Amino acid sequence: MSFKPRNATDRLILPLDVPTVAEARAIVEETKGVVGVYKVGMQLQFAGGLDFAQELAREGHKVFLDVKLLDIDNTVTQAVRNIVKMGMTFVTIHAYPRTMRAAVAGLEGADLCLLGVTVLTSMDDEDVKAAGYAGAAAELVKSRAIAARAAGMGGLVCSAHEASALRELAGPDMVLVTPGVRPAGSSADDQKRIKTPGDAIRAGADFIVCGRPITGATDRRAAAEAVVAEIEAAL
Ligand code: C5P
Repeated sequence: MSFKPRNATDRLILPLDVPTVAEARAIVEETKGVVGVYKVGMQLQFAGGLDFAQELAREGHKVFLDVKLLDIDNTVTQAVRNIVKMGMTFVTIHAYPRTMRAAVAGLEGADLCLLGVTVLTSMDDEDVKAAGYAGAAAELVKSRAIAARAAGMGGLVCSAHEASALRELAGPDMVLVTPGVRPAGSSADDQKRIKTPGDAIRAGADFIVCGRPITGATDRRAAAEAVVAEIEAAL
């Protein structure tokens, strides 16, 4: 992938998890220049977010389309082919081995970073067990990371708690993106496996996703700047 972070700002991914494009646009206006990548996730996708994501890309922003694809191989391959045409920088795929291979087949050499979602950072060992898996969350994360590398994925979405162990499995070229990031003193919300921005970077994350502590702040720009300062201090 050609997008290599040049500075601390480039490493901050801000999810636009709001109900409307108008609200998302306001957040982009407020945080322009202090955020590296805007993430358009499921909530906004169902409210005009796909067109908005393309608009942001046309304006020169880096965009992360968080669609977490999971379907039969042909559908995933064809979906990735179309996402390539949207000018996105990152897109997420659930880290099932054959789903990832199907996604890579749809790339056809395009400059789009496919990220495998190992285990959602809102899930702990109990949730993984309840979902029918025998091992702990960390074991599932590791086996999915190995499969992602073998499939030729561009990177992984993982908890910062797993980043240092994953760096070894993923190798130097795969990008590690860690959500579940909370500046000290802010609410964890529904995230269970959290770390501060500085700790996430020190643990080996290339990019961090930090949403509600910024989007819910009275001064969003200042909140984003504070996160960037923490990243910078950790580099
Ligand atoms: O507001 P908050 O910082 O918790 O937002 C985290 C974002 O990262 C959400 O958009 C969520 O969908 C996404 N995400 C996550 N855990 C993953 C993959 C994506 O929290 N494993």
